[in-house]
Amino acid sequence: MTDKNTRNEKMEAIVSLAKRRGFIYPGSDVYGGLSGTWDYGPLGVTLKRNIMQLWWKMFVQDREDMYGIDAAILMNQKVWKASGHVDTFTDPLVEDLETHMRYRADHLVKDAGFAADGLTMGELNELIIEKEIKSPDGNDLSDVRTFNMMFKTNVGPVDDELSVSYLRPETAQGIFTNYKNVLDSFYPDLPFGLAQQGKAFRNEISPRDFIFRSREFEQMEIEYFIDPATWEVEFEKWIALVHDWTDALGLPAESIHELEVEEADRAHYSKRTVDFEFDFPIGREELLGLAYRTDFDLGNISREAGKNMEYTVKGTNTKFVPHVIEPSFGVERALMAVLSAAYTEDEVNGEKRTYLKLPTHLAPVQYAVSPLLKNKPELVAKAREVYTILKKKYGNVMWDDNGNIGKRYRRQDEIGTPYCVVVDFETLEDNAVTIRERDTTDQKRVAISELG
Ligand code: GLY
Repeated sequence: MTDKNTRNEKMEAIVSLAKRRGFIYPGSDVYGGLSGTWDYGPLGVTLKRNIMQLWWKMFVQDREDMYGIDAAILMNQKVWKASGHVDTFTDPLVEDLETHMRYRADHLVKDAGFAADGLTMGELNELIIEKEIKSPDGNDLSDVRTFNMMFKTNVGPVDDELSVSYLRPETAQGIFTNYKNVLDSFYPDLPFGLAQQGKAFRNEISPRDFIFRSREFEQMEIEYFIDPATWEVEFEKWIALVHDWTDALGLPAESIHELEVEEADRAHYSKRTVDFEFDFPIGREELLGLAYRTDFDLGNISREAGKNMEYTVKGTNTKFVPHVIEPSFGVERALMAVLSAAYTEDEVNGEKRTYLKLPTHLAPVQYAVSPLLKNKPELVAKAREVYTILKKKYGNVMWDDNGNIGKRYRRQDEIGTPYCVVVDFETLEDNAVTIRERDTTDQKRVAISELG
C-alpha cells in the first residue's frame, strides 16, 4: 500500500491529465465552477460511452433474460414517498459555528481518525463532543442533524405541495414502476431483469474526490426479479457476474474487494448488501453495490398505488410478488477506476513517460494515424487514405500530424491510444505502414490491407 501523499499525488496527476487532455473539466468552469458537477470533454465522453456500451452489451444485449428501459428522470412524488426516500434518504449534517460552512458529520469524524460507519446521528454527535472534533477551519461544530439529499423542484406552473417532484436520486425506481408494463408486454419467465442507464442526482453535503462523489452522476442499474426461494443462489451468481464486469473493465482482480455490509450500514430496503470496493488512489472505496432488495419496492407499489404486482408462474395458479437482486453500478466510479488502473509512469530511452494503459476496447482513440512528415503531400495523401479506412472501420481514430513523431507518440500515450500508425516513404513502395504499440513501444510493419 502506498502512503497517503503518494496516493494523492497520483490522484492530482490524473485530475490534471484529465483536464489538460480533454477528458473531464470542472462544471461551469468559466463562471467559477459549480461544486459537485463535472463536464466531459471529447475524450472523456467517448471513454464514458465505451464503458456504458460495454455494460449494455454484457448485461442486456448478450442475455436473453434482460430487458432495457429508459424511464423519465422526473417522477410522481408518490414514488419517493413510497420508496422511503422522502423520509430516510438523508446524510448527517453539521455546521461550522463561525463560518457557517456545512459538512458531513461522518466525514469529519473519519478525517479525525475515528470509525464512523454505522453510527447513528446521536452517536456521531456524542463522538464529536467527546473527541472535541472541530471543523476543517478549527471551529466548533453545531449539533448533527439530518439533511435530505434529494433535489426538490416543481413540475408545471404552480408552486405548491402537489407540484413537488424530485430529480431522481436513483434510476431503480423508474425500473420498479415499469415492471408491470414490461410483464404485460413481454410475458417473461422468472428470473428476468430490467436494466437502465441514466442520470441520477444527489445534493451531497460535501462533494469530493474528483468524480467519485458528485451531485449529478450516471448510474447503470439492474433489478433482477426472482422467486424468493432462490435469492441466495441468484445473489451468488451476481457476485460472479460483477467480477466478470470488473475484469472486462481491465481492473486488476487484486484491486477489487468484497465487503459484506453490516445490517446497521445497509440501505433501508436491503436484506443483504455486498459492496465491491476498489483500490482508488484516494484509498479503498466503493465501486459498486449488490443488494437483495426483497419485495420492498414492488410491495410498496402494491400498497401505495393499489396495483397488483404479482407474477403468475406460467401454466399454474401459483402467484407471488417477485423479489429483487439489484446490482447498481456508478458510471463515474467505473471511469475513475479505469483511469486509476491505467495511469502509468515509466521510462523510455532514458526519458520519463506518462501513459494510460487503457484496454483497447475502452480507449477513446484506438488508432492515431500520421504521415511521417507533414510537408510531403504524397505522404499526407497516403496517410489520409489509411486514416479513412480505419475511421470507417473503428470510428475512434484520430488524425495527428503535429510536431515530430516522438512528440506524437508521447501525446497519444498520454491519452491511452493503443496503436499509432505511421505512413512513411517506404509505404509508397510497399503499401505497408509502421504500427507502434503503446505499452511496449515496439514497432512493426503491417500491410495496409491487413490493418485492424
Ligand atoms: N439503487 C441503489 C442506489 O442508488 O444506491
